[in-house]
Amino acid sequence: LDNGLGLTPPMGWLSWERFRCNIDCTNDPDNCISEKLYMSMADRLAEDGYRDVGYEYVNIDDCWSSKQRDSKGRLVADPDRFPSGIKALADYVHNKGLKLGIYGDFGTFTCGGYPGSEFYMELDAQTFADWGIDSLKLDGCYARISDMPFGYPVMELYLNQTGRPILYSCSWPAYTAHPNYPAIAKSCNIWRNYGDIQDSYSSLASIIEFYGKNEGNFSEVAGPGRFNDPDMLIIGDFSLSYYQQRLQMVMWAIMASPLYMSNDLRQVPEQSKEILQNKNVIAINQDPLGIQGKRVDKVNDYEIWVRPLAKSNYAFAAINLSGSSPSNVSLPLAKYGLTSTGGYLITEGFTGDKVVVYKPHQMFTTKVNPDDVSFYKATKL
Ligand code: DGJ
Repeated sequence: LDNGLGLTPPMGWLSWERFRCNIDCTNDPDNCISEKLYMSMADRLAEDGYRDVGYEYVNIDDCWSSKQRDSKGRLVADPDRFPSGIKALADYVHNKGLKLGIYGDFGTFTCGGYPGSEFYMELDAQTFADWGIDSLKLDGCYARISDMPFGYPVMELYLNQTGRPILYSCSWPAYTAHPNYPAIAKSCNIWRNYGDIQDSYSSLASIIEFYGKNEGNFSEVAGPGRFNDPDMLIIGDFSLSYYQQRLQMVMWAIMASPLYMSNDLRQVPEQSKEILQNKNVIAINQDPLGIQGKRVDKVNDYEIWVRPLAKSNYAFAAINLSGSSPSNVSLPLAKYGLTSTGGYLITEGFTGDKVVVYKPHQMFTTKVNPDDVSFYKATKL
């Protein structure tokens, strides 16, 4: 979507995977969907170094509103859980140098059963703008799928009409059998196209496989202002090993994916925080060309992924999703596009340490550990 937003994949935090639809503020006041939760995440983003490396959006997900609209038909935040209202929350977040995202639904209800935007799109867009909202995720529950190709662009029109820059995240392709990706990329800044991530390695691996298959060549439409969204980062949660967390971070960088963490920033282990804040990996995610990397090869149990970067540089990774033990794999990098006769300086992707100078007729050999990632940047010489 050409609205000047999301020129590189947006970064921030989103409540859904970790906090779901927990509305029990009586028994679980620190973890329920409430203004307090989003304020404390904004504090952590600002104070613990996340904001300074680029994490900027604090995104509300489902279950924030009242079950009823007000007498004028407007959405209202649940008064017990958001006693100060969304506008005050937006002010709070903005004062920290951050942005506030909100959640709505294309259909009559959200997936959690709260009011949807069907028949209220223009009013809801205006309400969000009046509140100072900076991003809208529009889900697709309780909706007619056949309406989506018309309705999702209409919401974009209404958002645009408010005059407030609002990043637009669409769930449209996630509900569609054969998404029309060029049309989606025209109307949305980011879009979900696969099932929800869960806090498990198998869920992560299935998303990577979906992006590896790249059915309909959806990677092709990605670029500044328009990115495929494989869903939230679960780094710092419960299920992933240290190595699997590195894997997710690198794959999201190679795939030019939004970096929306869904974790409890008040208790992220130090190792996870280091992965999330690694500047070299983030720089690759945020490469200005916005080209989505692809799976270019499978060698036995290994997958090779390559992302072209600005200045004719590349990022590449070798992964092994099927267990076994650490093994060496030799990569004919020239076959994957690294053909400059002057060669490339290969650096390790996390540390930036020099590994070797690669010339196109050579093989590049690396060790790949199970469920881990071997990740490199190639800088053209
Ligand atoms: C489905 C979406 O894909 C999730 O990310 C989340 O927003 C839930 N709906 C909320 O109900």
